[in-house]
Amino acid sequence: MIKKGILSVIAISCLAISAYAADKVITPESLSLRKTDIVDESKAAPVDAKFDAKAPGQAKTLERSYENAPPLIPHSVDGLVPITIKNNQCLGCHMPDVAKGVGATPIPESHFTDFRPKTELKDGKIVKDGKVVANTTDVTVAKFKKLKKLNPARFNCTQCHVPQANVKPLVKNNFKPEFSDEKLKHKSDLLKVINEGVK
Ligand code: HEC
Ligand code: HEC
Repeated sequence: MIKKGILSVIAISCLAISAYAADKVITPESLSLRKTDIVDESKAAPVDAKFDAKAPGQAKTLERSYENAPPLIPHSVDGLVPITIKNNQCLGCHMPDVAKGVGATPIPESHFTDFRPKTELKDGKIVKDGKVVANTTDVTVAKFKKLKKLNPARFNCTQCHVPQANVKPLVKNNFKPEFSDEKLKHKSDLLKVINEGVK
């Protein structure tokens, strides 16, 4: 008797679950973050982002996204991008020798540093400190060499530093950064701490 009772309870629950599932149709739109048909994206236009920040010198720097994150560009980049081999206007205001004069944050020392001084490509193999390695991260402690010039790997500023537009994020970001020092909310010290926890 008891067994039968349990079985019928299970059977009824199964029916209820399948009826509920049949009722719930998953549409392509409901899977899409943009709420558009993901099968046919030809009609999906990007949002009309307004990059309406103030001109350089009139903007206010933004808090760093986390400690030693590349700072966001708080000012307008109208007429400054794209950066080309022959034209990088960012340097005109951010190189350390001019930055103070125009009230811009100077490009930090880390951008005048080669973090892979002893890595070379020999016969298609990566050679680090004279030894063949599987990849450049095999040696954990970062060795570096100060350069007199900006490291060319840092030339394309907008690869890491980005201007801000007034758009609503598709997914809310709940990340809350923690800073080891309040000052680092508006300043970086990467070169000082690069081997922290490794050495
Ligand atoms: C005309 C001078 C000028 C030019 C050109 C310029 N900047 Fe700036 N930049 C500034 C000033 C001044 C600030 C400080 C905020 C302000 O006053 O607008 C600043 C702030 C910044 C910051 C934030 C720094 C921080 O401490 O948070 C970044 C990142 C930045 N600029 C990147 C760039 C990049 C990348 C370019 C090239 C696309 C560029 N800037 C071109 C003057 C300039
Ligand atoms: C490969 C990524 C990358 C590129 C390319 C790059 N940066 Fe940065 N930048 C960073 C990161 C990460 C930081 C924060 C950590 C640090 O200081 O290195 C930073 C920090 C800065 C700061 C803040 C310095 C401070 O004292 O707080 C300025 C200003 C800056 N970069 C300007 C530039 C300019 C101008 C260019 C182009 C010439 C450039 N960066 C290219 C990643 C990059």
